[in-house]
Amino acid sequence: MKALIYKNNQISLEERKNPEILDPKDAIVKVTLSSICTSDLHIIRGFVPRANEGIVLGHEFVGEVFAIGEDVKTLKVGDRVSANCETFCGECYFCKRGYVNNCEKGGWELGSRIDGCQAEFVRVPYADNGLVKLPDGVSYKNALFVGDILASGYFGAEMCEIKSGDTVAVIGTGPVGLCAMMCAKILGAKKILAIDIDETRLEIAKKEGLVDYVFNPRKIDVEKEVKALTQNRGSDGVIECAGTSETFELAWKIARANAIVGVVAMYEENQILPLPTMYGKNLTFKTGGVDANKCGELVKLIEENKISTDFLITHIFKLDEILDAYKLFENKPQGCLKIAITN
Ligand SMILES: NC(=O)c1ccc[n+]([C@@H]2O[C@H](COP(=O)([O-])OP(=O)(O)OC[C@H]3O[C@@H](n4cnc5c(N)ncnc54)[C@H](O)[C@@H]3O)[C@@H](O)[C@H]2O)c1
Ligand SMILES: [Zn+2]
Ligand SMILES: [Zn+2]
Repeated sequence: MKALIYKNNQISLEERKNPEILDPKDAIVKVTLSSICTSDLHIIRGFVPRANEGIVLGHEFVGEVFAIGEDVKTLKVGDRVSANCETFCGECYFCKRGYVNNCEKGGWELGSRIDGCQAEFVRVPYADNGLVKLPDGVSYKNALFVGDILASGYFGAEMCEIKSGDTVAVIGTGPVGLCAMMCAKILGAKKILAIDIDETRLEIAKKEGLVDYVFNPRKIDVEKEVKALTQNRGSDGVIECAGTSETFELAWKIARANAIVGVVAMYEENQILPLPTMYGKNLTFKTGGVDANKCGELVKLIEENKISTDFLITHIFKLDEILDAYKLFENKPQGCLKIAITN
């Protein structure tokens, strides 16, 4: 089969042996749609220490179950599924508490430590946990982002412990930030504030009805504007989905006292927490790799038309053209959000 391989800070499309069942809990999935994630770019640039050289990249996909191991209980060959970007056993200390990113036998494995989905077929360990069956009313396109960016947006919104009526600011109006906005609304936020330096993306957030206010820090003093909207308090929750030093700083500055700052973004360098300056603000910071433990619920929200992520697919390429797709994704022309790769 064809597969996109990462090695020496480079990618290449190569011929690989089809994956096989290695464990009774494995399934082999025939990939119908996969996507490129900003985290794939972080891997290629060498900023993801856990990533192994020589693996097939990609951790966001949907497809058809092609083969199952003898201990797979909830799936059968031919099922349409969306995949979780996290591999998890469901039984260890961390899994039992929902902390699947730190599963003692898994975590972010696909397209990082083991072969991922930018290929024709992919092996999914612990398939009963890693794959969610799609209902008839949910298409592959509808479900493409469930296991990674939608789960990450939900993770960010959950981190903020949103209460009904809260104001939630989302920094970064990329695919993850847009998903965080949808999920914050679902979890009870009243006002959503979107912050980005990319006007086209802010416009998309408005057009999709995901936000109440948009702010561009290159044009206005965002801290002042957020205070003006919140009786001088600051935002009840802040979800950082941009990933720069500037946005890390903005995140705690626009948070009200005693707020939670949920950091979903993956940084390419260390960030500074100026504790003396923020002393007395009594903030809580949460961060990490997504504990993608709500994929079933997210598929249900899609089925009920409460969430839709289809608009995020702005470009479609064939697997044969994936190197061009990566070039485009790296250069991000205006309006480019997510690229779907078809087989
Ligand atoms: N925690 C996790 O498990 C997890 C999962 C998926 C993605 N991620 C990470 O989430 C982040 C967001 O992913 P994405 O695909 O949406 O990325 P993206 O690059 O498409 O979006 C980032 C957005 O931040 C904006 N931005 C950059 N500098 C800014 C500034 N100074 N002020 C305001 N906005 C600014 C950009 O214009 C862009 O719209 C990435 O770092 C990605 O690696 C983390
Ligand atoms: Zn990702
Ligand atoms: Zn586990």
